[in-house]
Amino acid sequence: MSSPLPPVTSHFPPNPQFQGFMKPSGLEADAHNLEVIGTIPPSVSGTFYRVMPDPQFPPFIQNDPWFNGDGNISAFRIHPDGRVSFKQRYVRTEKFTREREAQRALLGKYRNKYTDAVEFAIRTTANTNVVHFNGKLLALKEDAPPYALDPDTLETIGLYDFDGQLPSLTFTAHPKFDPKTGEMLCFGYEAKGDGTPDVCYYRISAEGKLLETVWLVAPVVAMIHDFAVTENWVVFPIIPQVCDLDRLKAGGEHWQWSPETPFYIGVLPRRGGSAADVKWFRHPNSFPGHVANAYEDPSTGNLVVDLGLSASNVFFWWPDAQGNAPRPETIHSQLTRFTINPKSEDLEVTPDMVTALETTNSEFYRIDDRFAFQQHRHVFFDAMDPALGTDFGAIAPKLGGGYPLYNSLAHFDAQTGKTEVYFPGRTHMVQEPVFIPKKGSEVEGDGYLLALVNNYDTMGSELHLLDTTEGKFGECLAKVVLPVRLRHGLHGNWVDANNVKETK
Ligand SMILES: [Fe+2]
Repeated sequence: MSSPLPPVTSHFPPNPQFQGFMKPSGLEADAHNLEVIGTIPPSVSGTFYRVMPDPQFPPFIQNDPWFNGDGNISAFRIHPDGRVSFKQRYVRTEKFTREREAQRALLGKYRNKYTDAVEFAIRTTANTNVVHFNGKLLALKEDAPPYALDPDTLETIGLYDFDGQLPSLTFTAHPKFDPKTGEMLCFGYEAKGDGTPDVCYYRISAEGKLLETVWLVAPVVAMIHDFAVTENWVVFPIIPQVCDLDRLKAGGEHWQWSPETPFYIGVLPRRGGSAADVKWFRHPNSFPGHVANAYEDPSTGNLVVDLGLSASNVFFWWPDAQGNAPRPETIHSQLTRFTINPKSEDLEVTPDMVTALETTNSEFYRIDDRFAFQQHRHVFFDAMDPALGTDFGAIAPKLGGGYPLYNSLAHFDAQTGKTEVYFPGRTHMVQEPVFIPKKGSEVEGDGYLLALVNNYDTMGSELHLLDTTEGKFGECLAKVVLPVRLRHGLHGNWVDANNVKETK
């Protein structure tokens, strides 16, 4: 177990991930009637949930990454009359609760239990995504089962194993939802424990009943952060960040970039498959990021998978065995399309086009979720284009570090090939957007885009609401000004007011 702990300190170390905008806040709060500049349409009525890593106590290990902070959930409730309220609560994980009792950090390195100060049953920080399912909020991180929360109060209900049905030790932070049936499609990797190559794929009905489980063995013990689903198939892109149990036992990092490992893409029937049915397609070493969507080409049955792809290691804080990592400003991720024949015996795959679908450095792709698993036209995402005019000189001392920077929101139209851009300001960076459909409209992409924006001039956070109608995307429809700074977060989702009871 652990080495002796250094004395408790009230200060976070001077690493960039704890400075400037990234300084942990520890904030739990309620605020009502936030300042709204502009007008929020009555059609936008519901709650935007998102989660950020926000460490409760300074770590006792060196250079603790942004990803290791305690999950702190924000809920922005937009009422039909345009009022906006804000609530923020930590997920009461076992880690959070025991550290609060001890008044100090007890958990060691990211996903390395051999560096902990005490023995935890569950180490998760629940800091990666928050989804609404079957009347509960589920706070997710891919190393453990979800924690369930009350969608109204954000009170933690507890660790959630679907009433004993959960077949895997782990649960992805990116489950997919079938918009027609409400079915939740899930998987866990390292599903039998740290360093195991086992992948567990499972489906859960909208009512919370486990429908199917398939156990697979991956060709490498590596990170499977996101996945893709079509009408009849599921797709597992493997990031060449590899895990080694001996390294963990020696107190090392969970992940190490492996330049020798190809980008594997597992393809399995969505229903009724078995371990014998999985095919591991391959592409040369590269970093697959988040999935925008996938669907089956109706004329060929081929799988069309749109996801971010970078030639270099996006998780630069986990270098290769020699300590090599790209400089963050050189990393370039693009929205890229793979077309895969699931029946092919040729397992080498290449992107369809010589160039990517969209060429800015981009990530956090979202679609109109009503069109998940079907052919989509619209993709919304974070993008970085220095030519837009960001005043890097002014904001550099305030940025902090250890997280990706995107200075704009973008809308890519796969039908026209055009990209529209929203630039929030010269001293701003954006977080992941969510799409909100216009009430009463069934047209794909007809609605609004909402994103949390970091303002480095005021050192405060803002919500920016955009109209996704072509020609209107570049203007901000309404800006909600928060009285606080919210650290850079990971993922979130919009839940319509009809699906969550309202607090006045
Ligand atoms: Fe993610």
